[in-house]
Amino acid sequence: MAILVPLSYVCNQAINRRAYVKVQAHRDIYGKLSSWLFEMLLGLREIKLFGQSRRSGKTFINKLSGLIRAKIAKDKIEFLSERLNVLLILIDQLLIFIVASFLVYRGLFTVGGLVATLMYFSIVSDMFRNLAQASMRMQKNFVSINRIFSILQQEEEQSRVSGTRPNNGQVIFRNVSFAYDEKQVLDRLCLEIQEGEHVAIVGRSGAGKSSLIQLLQGFYEKNGGEILIGGVPIEKYSINDLRRCVGVVSQKSVIFQGTIRENLTLGNRAYSDGAIWEACEMANISQAIQRLPRGLDTPLGYDGAGLSGGQLQRLTIARVLLRKPLITVFDEATSALDGASEAAIRLLMKELTSHTTLISIAHNYTTIAEADRVAVMDGGKIIDSGTIPQLLERCSVFRELYGEQARWYHAVPS
Ligand SMILES: Nc1ncnc2c1ncn2[C@@H]1O[C@H](COP(=O)(O)OP(=O)(O)OP(=O)(O)O)[C@@H](O)[C@H]1O
Ligand SMILES: [Mg+2]
Repeated sequence: MAILVPLSYVCNQAINRRAYVKVQAHRDIYGKLSSWLFEMLLGLREIKLFGQSRRSGKTFINKLSGLIRAKIAKDKIEFLSERLNVLLILIDQLLIFIVASFLVYRGLFTVGGLVATLMYFSIVSDMFRNLAQASMRMQKNFVSINRIFSILQQEEEQSRVSGTRPNNGQVIFRNVSFAYDEKQVLDRLCLEIQEGEHVAIVGRSGAGKSSLIQLLQGFYEKNGGEILIGGVPIEKYSINDLRRCVGVVSQKSVIFQGTIRENLTLGNRAYSDGAIWEACEMANISQAIQRLPRGLDTPLGYDGAGLSGGQLQRLTIARVLLRKPLITVFDEATSALDGASEAAIRLLMKELTSHTTLISIAHNYTTIAEADRVAVMDGGKIIDSGTIPQLLERCSVFRELYGEQARWYHAVPS
């Protein structure tokens, strides 16, 4: 017994350490494979469309092989632990048997004592085996617990609590700098947008327009400068208040599995049917919803199956309008729309500026032509801002981006 306990302890400690690593590797690979599979299933149509089925199949087999290898490595170590403990117990049993038999032979121990010792040892050894199995189970559970804790300990966005609420849609970017890791995107950028103003932000692809809006919503921390809404730095607002006051419609319509109503309210029951229909009306989607047999209660799939791309886009616009944000941002929001819908959204933009500040980011000239002012972004800065005729005259980047479209647009009046 004096040999079994320390020896078993040392061996189990060494095995448990290895088991922890193997279980962790297995869970990591399993998690990554699940999320990859989920994305693949969501994009199944695109995969087929772009002839990527074979390639995705190969990637799946590679990932699955990795998972099987990790599972075998994990099972091996579990098996090793179990067998090692059985071996240790057998060796100990054998030693007891030899020593006790020798003592019986010498007349120092009775046969009854030998049987009792062996029975006692078999009970104790069962306990040891259970203990070793429990310790292995604990290692597996530790991996899961640590994964949960690592998620819980991630910096909490909601930690900002504040009594100040935005009550004015004026936006000021003052010397704002920002970088994604090493990549500098904004460099002491300055831009002032008045309440109720419609400003279009233009720039080459990758200039940092969307990043600027993500900073405004508090998705990233800037590296320098100040962003103010209603004259107050955004850090003074709670994340919830900030996101509620900046409504962003982006190019990609994010649709959740659920009914149209759930997609609009995102589970908030405070919105009345009247408010929902008003938002749908403004986003020019109410007629399409009314035509559906189940109206607002029509279920949508993850990819919004049941509505066209343009209708889904208008649905996401209605979702933003329902919240009546102080600042509305359209980030390439009209690119999935046909001519008529785009014209309707342009009309909506005009209407919106009576009660919200409007920032539109668009590559197409027709949308930016609606703005009161256009700000041109280049090299991480706003290099110029003004009306379209002013910019056509004095800003070479604007001319390069829109000179041709402007000439065409003004030569062909609508
Ligand atoms: N999450 C990210 N991590 C690292 N780099 C990023 C990330 N998002 C964007 N970038 C990089 O930052 C730069 C600015 O990107 P951003 O999306 O803001 O540009 P954009 O002006 O909106 O472009 P587009 O007109 O094509 O939408 C790009 O070079 C892009 O590659
Ligand atoms: Mg963008």
